[in-house]
Amino acid sequence: MVTAEQLAAFHEDGVLVIPDFYSAQECSDLRSRMDAILEEIGGKESGSSFSTTEQSHANDRWFLESGDKVRVFLEDEAARAPEAGPGHVLTRRANKVGHALHDLDPTFAAFSRAPQLAALATALGFVDPLLLQSMYIFKPPAIGGEVVWHCDHTFLWTEPQTVVGFWVAIDEATEENGCMWYLPGSHRIPADTRFRREGQGTVTEVLADPPHIDPEAIVPIPADPGTLVVLHGTVRHWSAPNHSSSPRHAYTLHVIDGTAEYPADNWLQRPELPLRGF
Ligand code: FE2
Repeated sequence: MVTAEQLAAFHEDGVLVIPDFYSAQECSDLRSRMDAILEEIGGKESGSSFSTTEQSHANDRWFLESGDKVRVFLEDEAARAPEAGPGHVLTRRANKVGHALHDLDPTFAAFSRAPQLAALATALGFVDPLLLQSMYIFKPPAIGGEVVWHCDHTFLWTEPQTVVGFWVAIDEATEENGCMWYLPGSHRIPADTRFRREGQGTVTEVLADPPHIDPEAIVPIPADPGTLVVLHGTVRHWSAPNHSSSPRHAYTLHVIDGTAEYPADNWLQRPELPLRGF
């Protein structure tokens, strides 16, 4: 499944890339299912989809209540021009769909609970893996936005840190369409911010100075469909806007260990949907 050399590289770099982890068929089935989900969402909820970054009470609620739902979030540029319309057009305007696909949709549940992923989680040291968050990311052509440098622990906090991100390329990801980049070894630097609930909204607590991102040291992660990228919870990563004419679809799943504490002020809460493992 995963060799001692691969595990050593993961502990050294904070990232592990495994080509052909999923088949082309599994990736295209996931994409087709997402097309159908967008059709359903577009028909039912035209207009009730929100930007990923714009600050407003309605946006906060749409986001904060999405931990146990399947909701669409639009690219900023698309959210500012909602007249583009619902339905199939969503695939060109959506930033992502989240955050409980892995529990609420059978196709996504099967993909997320693939036996090879469960085995990998065990190999990575999980004792009680819990599938916390899933996102289907569109990074649409021309308007797919930048994801600024961050680590996932900032957003999904456990004490101690246990979160691991599993990122799967559904389309080929290239430097042209906004593939991920990372800073090798940066997982050894503790999280410098924590995003959490406060009152009815959220705050980003600053814990330390951000790490220096040396442009000479960062590494791109181009990926073919089916490639799995494992991200340590504190490894710093980034992706550029998509200025190309092709989409860059990807699926991410975040797993935490049930042996750690999951604070009640994490943004992601699932009051109606208990966390489950593989
Ligand atoms: Fe991330």
